[in-house]
Amino acid sequence: MYKIVLVPELKVLLSRNQIAQRVTEMAEDITRDFKGQSIIFVGVLKGAAIFLSDLARQVSLDATFDFIGVSSYGNRPTPAEDPAGHAAWDSLGEVRVTKDLDQSMTDRNVILVEDILDTGLTLNYIQKLLLAHQPRTLRIAALLDKPSRRKQPIHAHYIGFAIPDAYVVGYGLDYAERYRNLPDICVIENP
Ligand code: IMP
Repeated sequence: MYKIVLVPELKVLLSRNQIAQRVTEMAEDITRDFKGQSIIFVGVLKGAAIFLSDLARQVSLDATFDFIGVSSYGNRPTPAEDPAGHAAWDSLGEVRVTKDLDQSMTDRNVILVEDILDTGLTLNYIQKLLLAHQPRTLRIAALLDKPSRRKQPIHAHYIGFAIPDAYVVGYGLDYAERYRNLPDICVIENP
């Protein structure tokens, strides 16, 4: 009896050069918008770590970092549980904080840095949490946006690329914790 094993296929959607160019533009926008002020980047672990480190190094402002860790209930299945890779990419909107902020956000210019804006449920939750700190300003920088997947409206001031509804990995984004270290952003097929 034969067992069919599907080998994951990765196709580059956004090359490292395209990403670098767009991140530079986003950094220029942030530098212009907050000229003469201090900002704090709040990265959402783990997916935004690489984007934040590239973005922050190109922003010419007085800047500090913090990180927040969240885990959505209704986690994505592992490849073994979902060999076709189609089920439950959706977070259920019930988010658990796994790493809280280290600093107060009160009266700060906060830039929430996220890898991808999908249904919008996670960012809506984090946004509410940050607003409770009463920051001076709160803006969202998301490298990728899948507008067709939105379940809750959310406004991101800085968006890198709008992409179609495909599952992507690389540049911080994972599938079952793998592929985060790919320098390009790739569509994964047969995960
Ligand atoms: P949302 O609450 O549905 O907007 O979920 C956003 C989170 O889902 C992101 O921070 C990612 O961790 C994850 N996510 C959504 N789409 C993708 C994808 O295509 N690749 C990897 N992770 C994704």
